[in-house]
Amino acid sequence: MWTRNTPGRTRWIVLGAAALWMLLGAGVGELPMARAAHLTGTFEVDEFFRFLHKFGFQKTEKHSQKDTEWDTFGYIYGNITSSVNFTVPVTLAVLDKRSFLEYYANRNDYDRDVACQRMFEKLDKIVYSRACNPHAEADYLRRIPCEPGKLCVDEDTQENVVPGSQFTFVISDPNVPRFWYVSMVACYQNVSTCQWHHYDYRKYHPEPPAINYDITLVNGNPNRQTLSFFNPLLFHFSFDQQNTLEMYLIFFVVYLLMVPLQIYAVRLQKHPVTRLFTVSLVLEFVSVCLLLTHTVRYAMNGVGDEKLAIMGDIFDIFSRTSFMLILLLLAKGWAVTRLQISVSSWILLMVIWIPYCAIHVLLYIWNRTEVDIISDIDEYQTWPGWLVLACRSTMMLWFLWELRTTMKYEHSSQKLDFLLHFGASSLVWFIYLPIVAIIAVNVSPLWRYKLLLGITNSADCLAYCVMMGLLWPNRAGQYLLLTGTNFAGMDELDEFNEAPHIVHRDSDTLHSSNGDLAIDDYLDNEDDEIETLVLSTDDLLHTGSSYAVGSGSGSGGGSKPLSLHNGSALNGGIGKGGRSFD
Ligand SMILES: *[C@@H]1O[C@H](CO)[C@@H](O)[C@H](O)[C@H]1NC(C)=O
Ligand SMILES: *[C@@H]1O[C@H](CO)[C@@H](O)[C@H](O)[C@H]1NC(C)=O
Ligand SMILES: *[C@@H]1O[C@H](CO)[C@@H](O)[C@H](O)[C@H]1NC(C)=O
Repeated sequence: MWTRNTPGRTRWIVLGAAALWMLLGAGVGELPMARAAHLTGTFEVDEFFRFLHKFGFQKTEKHSQKDTEWDTFGYIYGNITSSVNFTVPVTLAVLDKRSFLEYYANRNDYDRDVACQRMFEKLDKIVYSRACNPHAEADYLRRIPCEPGKLCVDEDTQENVVPGSQFTFVISDPNVPRFWYVSMVACYQNVSTCQWHHYDYRKYHPEPPAINYDITLVNGNPNRQTLSFFNPLLFHFSFDQQNTLEMYLIFFVVYLLMVPLQIYAVRLQKHPVTRLFTVSLVLEFVSVCLLLTHTVRYAMNGVGDEKLAIMGDIFDIFSRTSFMLILLLLAKGWAVTRLQISVSSWILLMVIWIPYCAIHVLLYIWNRTEVDIISDIDEYQTWPGWLVLACRSTMMLWFLWELRTTMKYEHSSQKLDFLLHFGASSLVWFIYLPIVAIIAVNVSPLWRYKLLLGITNSADCLAYCVMMGLLWPNRAGQYLLLTGTNFAGMDELDEFNEAPHIVHRDSDTLHSSNGDLAIDDYLDNEDDEIETLVLSTDDLLHTGSSYAVGSGSGSGGGSKPLSLHNGSALNGGIGKGGRSFD
């Protein structure tokens, strides 16, 4: 009997998951960590070009005035120094998308001198320069590094600079919120010819000189953040991520209510589906906690804790995929119309589900490492993204097919009703993501992040609520087969036996109320169908350790097999789980 091996198999699965988890844990350190609004680092000029940050600045309020409480300008300020004296300064560029794209596209020219000229060709016409373009308006460039303890050469008055910093860009756009792109490049303009050239350090220095930077990007005036006007939900956040803190806070509160309720429910009614669901819910709760912690820290210092954020995202992925596993298992009729699933079905399920998890994680890593931040695409516009959506849609079709098969052989109207409701709500859950991903393509990237985050989190939260309602102990007893909890509920088992797809069953023994007989069978006959039936569902999910939990509480539930050893305990156990059938 294959079920005999299941505890061992489960152990392997658990071990595999643990190994995967450790790999991921190690991998977290490798992922790039540059999503903060407070940037510190070192730029070595032999690197030629360094993209620093993309930041969304909010739309400036009409009555907004600089240095008032209502200042809604965007500010970029900080220090840029070097311990080496540069012969000529290189360039810090803060550009909006229009001017940035061409500048960025030309950075890779093999001849660096040509690259510099091309990058600044268009910009030269619009950017202010005291020597070469004194009538232009746009103030996009700074010559760096600046002399320690002094303002940068391009800053003319102290008033325009945020105290304690060497340079300040003030960003205002009364019409629309906009992304701005901060970068450094080893190019300089010869003030006598107005030509751009590559700063070839080999001519002046034995080693590539390093430039240290400490730059902060904020929405709102950093000087005027008095307590009453300081808005921590907006200040450090790029426009596309403003107010995400509230969102996480709301979900945190919702899950804070749901998790204890569900833990109460799972203690009341021990059932593998309920347990798997609890695991999924707890994973989601942990994920929200981690993300909330990161976001709160980010709101305070503009840096946050990127490791927590990555862990949170990965917990979220595992929570969602395990939820999908529950849906697939229920659609197969597991614990609803049958207590065990054939080994081939399990293999098929795992062969599809495990790669699905893997692709999901791959998409996440890909999205963080490979996707060019300039490109403005979200995770579902990359090929792993499409792959995940395709997999999800395929799983949905499979889910429907399984559900149809299950319903065809089900006669109990309560169960049919359950399956119908369950199927409909699951279908909504399956289908929403592809639809949202398609809609998101047409949404401005300034709004897309919040849209995707809000919709996916709300939909998942709703799905958890619905599932929690469906699996709530009193209701669930009407349609879920509760392993071993209730042998008095024979009508349930009779229906079960009538189902044509259940072949070969030793129903005589099943109906025997003689505990001793069952125990004898259990001890003597390795191939007995009944105790396989009793053992199976639980074993699939829980290895030996969980039995202790079940027997300790003494309230019956899915851990019944232990009580078989107590002789008369089988009869004793009959009434206990019966509350579910009231
Ligand atoms: C850089 O220049 C300043 C003044 O021009 C001088 O005082 C300083 O010693 C120089 N530093 C180095 C490392 O050459
Ligand atoms: C930036 O430079 C100013 C003056 O040069 C100094 O007072 C300030 O502490 C520096 N700030 C940082 C964050 O290094
Ligand atoms: C700038 O151009 C002038 C004229 O061609 C040249 O004499 C000077 O050395 C150049 N300066 C730099 C820093 O390259």
